[in-house]
Amino acid sequence: MSRVYNFSAGPAVLPEEVLKKASEELFEYRDSGMSVMEMSHRSSHFQDIIDRAEEDLRFLMGIPDNYHVLFLQGGASLQFSMIPMNFMTINRTCDIIHTGTWTDKAMKELEKLGSFRKVASSEDTVFSYIPEISGIDFNDDADYIHICHNNTIYGTKYVEIPSNIKVPLVADMSSSILSEKIKVTDYDIIFAGAQKNIGPAGVTIVILKNSLVDRIPDGIPTMLDYRTHIENGSLFNTPSTYSIYMAGLVFQWLRDLGGVEAMEKLNRDKAELLYSCIDNSALFKGHAVKKYRSIMNVTFSTGSADLDKKFVSEATQNGLSSLNGHKSVGGMRASIYNAMPIEGVRKLVKFMNEFESHNK
Ligand SMILES: Cc1ncc(COP(=O)(O)O)c(C=O)c1O
Repeated sequence: MSRVYNFSAGPAVLPEEVLKKASEELFEYRDSGMSVMEMSHRSSHFQDIIDRAEEDLRFLMGIPDNYHVLFLQGGASLQFSMIPMNFMTINRTCDIIHTGTWTDKAMKELEKLGSFRKVASSEDTVFSYIPEISGIDFNDDADYIHICHNNTIYGTKYVEIPSNIKVPLVADMSSSILSEKIKVTDYDIIFAGAQKNIGPAGVTIVILKNSLVDRIPDGIPTMLDYRTHIENGSLFNTPSTYSIYMAGLVFQWLRDLGGVEAMEKLNRDKAELLYSCIDNSALFKGHAVKKYRSIMNVTFSTGSADLDKKFVSEATQNGLSSLNGHKSVGGMRASIYNAMPIEGVRKLVKFMNEFESHNK
């Protein structure tokens, strides 16, 4: 069987060039005589791999020197606990904009570790939009504001983020990191699980403003204290070595491609192809409000659960994989991360048009 176009929300498609490079180096990495998987995380080869990965990520995102870059484990989900444990430490409360499952999961942890104010929410329409920032009354006493930058399940993204705020901004960028140009200094903490735009599951990127470190109280379990990982260059314990190596290859691939700016243009072109197909269709209807449409996760349905099921099944037979929507929204979801080639989106659009003509 040949490779399919994989629209999975994560773990997700990886660039073919990266997979090929990794397979060339799988058995023996350069002159090391071993695979990266077999290599000590204390070896000079691995030190070069992690240093290069950090350098490339800093270059790609324009991360200034006053931010730490960490390669952690526990997924984006562990950050829902680590961030409050370390930083919700002054007034023990934070503000959160509720835009779906991933902020719901964050709230569940906040509740255990302090308190939070749900300052806005889009739950009234199954999270089909992002609440207007200008209408939100943020709490100056909050230790920080938490947002989910791109909502993987619903296909929505922020077009404007909280600014002129007096407290730090924390953003979950699991499904949008490296997909579009952002200004890192607009945020105080950015975190992202790797398995969408960065590499295989297993490593979580945390970008953290240095000045926040002063807030960390003593007494946090060692592995949950960011200082442990800062002081040890993400090598306090055995990190997810192979995932970091793969992330490094993805960063080099993105640099060779022209960086985040070039990637964003391609991502917008891909998203435009799909959204215009949906907008011009009498059968398919998009879930997200136009203004807040994600360029990474495109959610749509036919309005009939049976027809949606038929669509997903026939698409799979046509080499278009993992198009089923999340159970909380239903319908379909096409995740078109950085590594999804535009040919995959063209093939999907062609299939959608054909499906529509056969199912009027
Ligand atoms: C926006 C967002 N946040 C958090 C998570 C959870 O990530 P993990 O599985 O790495 O804990 C996901 C997973 O899909 C996600 O899409």
